[in-house]
Amino acid sequence: MAQFVIQGGTPLHGDIRLSGAKNAASKMLIASLLTDEECVFENFPRIGDTNITRELCEAIGSRIVVEGSRLRIVTPTLSTTTVGALSRRNRIPVLALGALLGRAGEAEVPFVGGDKIGPRPIDIHIQALTQLGATITTGEQSYRATVSGRLRGANITFPYPSVGATENTIFASVFALGRTVIRNAAVEPEILDLIKLLQNMGAIIELGTDRRIMIEGVKHLRGAHHTILPDRNEAVSFACLAIATKGDVIVKGAVQDHLVTFLNTVRRIGAEYEVLHDGIRFWCPGSLRAAHIETDTHPGFMTDWQQPLVVALTQAKGRSVVHETVYEDRFGYAEDLNSMGARIKVGTECLGDISCRFKDKICSHTALVEGPTELHGTELRVRDIRAGIAHVIAALTAHGTSTIDNIEELDRGYERVDERLRYIGAQIKRVSEN
Ligand code: EPU
Repeated sequence: MAQFVIQGGTPLHGDIRLSGAKNAASKMLIASLLTDEECVFENFPRIGDTNITRELCEAIGSRIVVEGSRLRIVTPTLSTTTVGALSRRNRIPVLALGALLGRAGEAEVPFVGGDKIGPRPIDIHIQALTQLGATITTGEQSYRATVSGRLRGANITFPYPSVGATENTIFASVFALGRTVIRNAAVEPEILDLIKLLQNMGAIIELGTDRRIMIEGVKHLRGAHHTILPDRNEAVSFACLAIATKGDVIVKGAVQDHLVTFLNTVRRIGAEYEVLHDGIRFWCPGSLRAAHIETDTHPGFMTDWQQPLVVALTQAKGRSVVHETVYEDRFGYAEDLNSMGARIKVGTECLGDISCRFKDKICSHTALVEGPTELHGTELRVRDIRAGIAHVIAALTAHGTSTIDNIEELDRGYERVDERLRYIGAQIKRVSEN
């Protein structure tokens, strides 16, 4: 077990480089299971989440070599189609259902873990794979999927544009007989990057208007060499860090196309940005203003951005309103920020225009943030990856010393974050506990 000890209250200045996207890298490893040839990934992040996925792939026959930020993976034959219990859990094993069904016609995967931010069912995945012809049974600890003969292309309409269900359905349908159309699919930049990889592997995948993805089944996929897109969630985390600490930071590798909605928010709250040839600079020229934010699927304001932004909003003048429409229960960290002096009130009522699935449910999915408030250091414990980065930003904004426990959760999503933050002036130490 390790913890961060953070001395806050100093504006951060300098350049920080993004890693490859966490929410693309693990999916690339799963995509590589669709071929017996080698795939090579550049800009591959060395984080807890991808380590779990590497463990999954190695246990079913993949050989993996890591050289710096390059990862080579080849799975000449599958030694099993059952994904056993992993030493740690994330939500990636469920995506092996589609990939192993596609390659081998059968798969068994353990129930998925991941962050505690809502119930996170997988009904949309199961429904889509069933429409492609799979039979899925639920055991005590696992899902089992089989198909007699080949999967068959189908017209599938999602009730909600789920990222994971879109990926799983694409994995299963690349080898399906005929054409699959996914309507109301997720179109996050990480999904488009995955489609680019699969296209280079030999798949035929088209993007239509209105969240439509069309997949024409092929018989064979080959290896590919792919550079993983930069992590836009890291970009937002570092931007909010610059803004909340009243610093000036260049986020190297940040891509404007992936951040359009966030950049508008930056300007609305009175902070500034400048798009440079190899990144985006963020700073805070004066006092911050309150804002009304509603999280949504891409191209809306991403749910993984609200936690870092809320820390910045604790420094803004007025009452900010944050309506979380993607997850039922993603404001647990507000209590932690309140213990540092923030004034955040979490409620169950929808506050905004986006039609929200939680309207008639009692879900703590809105937050009112009163600011500005002076934050002071305290003892914190990471709840999940994004809540954890909110803790780090708050601790660096606060006066005094904070300790943050359970940082292994944060390491699942942010590569060597302490080392990288020290380069921009953060006083952050990793201390091992006995
Ligand atoms: N949902 C269902 N049924 C399903 C699938 C999803 O009701 O079958 C619901 C979920 O419960 C949730 C919403 O739909 O309320 C969105 O879930 P989605 O499937 O889109 O999310 P995911 O694939 O499980 C990925 C990221 C998350 C990110 C979301 C939304 C990975 C490994 N995780 O999760 O990232 O918040 O998409 O963009 O790609 C993070 O990085 O901290 C993180 C949680």
